[in-house]
Amino acid sequence: MKKILVVDDEPSMRAALSESLQSCGYEVETADDGRDALEKFRRNLYGVVITDMRMPRVGGMEVLTGIKKMSPATPVIIITAYGTVNTAVEAMRAGAVDFIMKPFSLEHLESVVSRVAETGGGGADDRGRDSKSGKDFITGDENMRQILDLMETVASARSSVLIQGESGTGKELLARYIHKKGIRAHMPFIAVNCAAIPANLLESEMFGYEKGAFTGAIQRKPGKFELADGGTLLLDEISEMDLQLQAKMLRVIQEGEVDRLGGRESIHVDVRIIATTNTDIRRAVEEKRFRGDLFYRINVIPVTIPPLRKRKGDIPILADLFLDHYSRLNGIERPVLTPAALSMLECHSWPGNVRELENVIERSVLLCSKGKILPDHLYLEYAMEGLAGVPGADAAGGGSGMTIKEMERDLIFRTLDKVKGNKAKASRMLGISVRTMRNKLHEYGMEN
Ligand SMILES: Nc1ncnc2c1ncn2[C@@H]1O[C@H](COP(=O)(O)OP(=O)(O)OP(=O)(O)O)[C@@H](O)[C@H]1O
Ligand SMILES: [Mg+2]
Repeated sequence: MKKILVVDDEPSMRAALSESLQSCGYEVETADDGRDALEKFRRNLYGVVITDMRMPRVGGMEVLTGIKKMSPATPVIIITAYGTVNTAVEAMRAGAVDFIMKPFSLEHLESVVSRVAETGGGGADDRGRDSKSGKDFITGDENMRQILDLMETVASARSSVLIQGESGTGKELLARYIHKKGIRAHMPFIAVNCAAIPANLLESEMFGYEKGAFTGAIQRKPGKFELADGGTLLLDEISEMDLQLQAKMLRVIQEGEVDRLGGRESIHVDVRIIATTNTDIRRAVEEKRFRGDLFYRINVIPVTIPPLRKRKGDIPILADLFLDHYSRLNGIERPVLTPAALSMLECHSWPGNVRELENVIERSVLLCSKGKILPDHLYLEYAMEGLAGVPGADAAGGGSGMTIKEMERDLIFRTLDKVKGNKAKASRMLGISVRTMRNKLHEYGMEN
């Protein structure tokens, strides 16, 4: 069990932190300021250090750099006040393994600490991680395995990667996997969701600005490119970026230089780009909604994650993983997935892919009874009705990637499932004639 050093100038905070960690079985020592912390660190061995950022005399940043000098592999977790994201980013770049934003719950603290302690805080490998990236990309599918192997081979290259795949297939997780496996792993991983940030803000987010560049620019702010310098920049849902910004992106990617808004000189950046999209980006290029030259720049290493329905072998494996995770998270004894429920999972077409499976399992963990998950606890019907809630599914062209034909087939199969194969009953429920039903099944190669 690892010994933890907790550094905070506030006695009540120190007490709360150490009590909570001790109750998790850690041995804890405390320091009441940065100087005291560095003293103690010099004389003792600690597995993890947790330090507050703002402290009189010697602050958290100095604790961090001091410790990194003495022992680069020791993981340091930073506690920062709400609204000081910049400080947190700076700390991550200086080698902090993670940060916790105040106010935080003790559970959150415990989960961060246990993750850091479990992974051995593996020094360089862990730096630049954020709390989401602790998750591994799990698969039992041969194709997917090959994709992961290939990504591992190119992980250290600087060439851009374009990850395509339906919503919820794990594009972001794969991007983090590539980052983690490469030589840039100890450098920052910065993600920008191009679809979530309004076009007019995206530019300043990406390139940063100088004080006074526009009304409201009260303070100089670095852009995502600068923050990702030396590391990886994830451009999530790049196809949503507007054309004007695409032109600027192209320049940065080509020349490796960014211009801050209102800035006088260009800043050199060395960034590995990983982009994702869940729409048919080639079609967007044909329709001139996406620049062809930018497409070729980012499509150097193309990779497509197959939808979950095309790698059914992953369904039991991922279900198992999520069962474990959500029962632990909710403090519930791990329920058993009955064979009937599992086969229902295997028959479902998963328009929302792994994310949908994750949601279904999370819900079933809470709704199951007597430690058993039965088909009814999966509420797959409900999941279909909730399709509008699946990100991407409502986008034009069906971002979920499911065609109307596929949805229709899915619906017919599931209805048949529900009525145990009684075609007359199923067709009544669906409002179609038995003959139409037969024709459809024939079309699917299910009946002759
Ligand atoms: N192979 C996997 N192993 C473990 N978890 C996975 C896997 N694939 C996906 N997940 C989980 O499923 C959820 C969705 O994954 P992610 O956000 O990476 O998908 P996405 O393709 O980026 O989706 P979107 O297009 O909607 O942004 C996440 O919680 C992720 O951790
Ligand atoms: Mg995503």
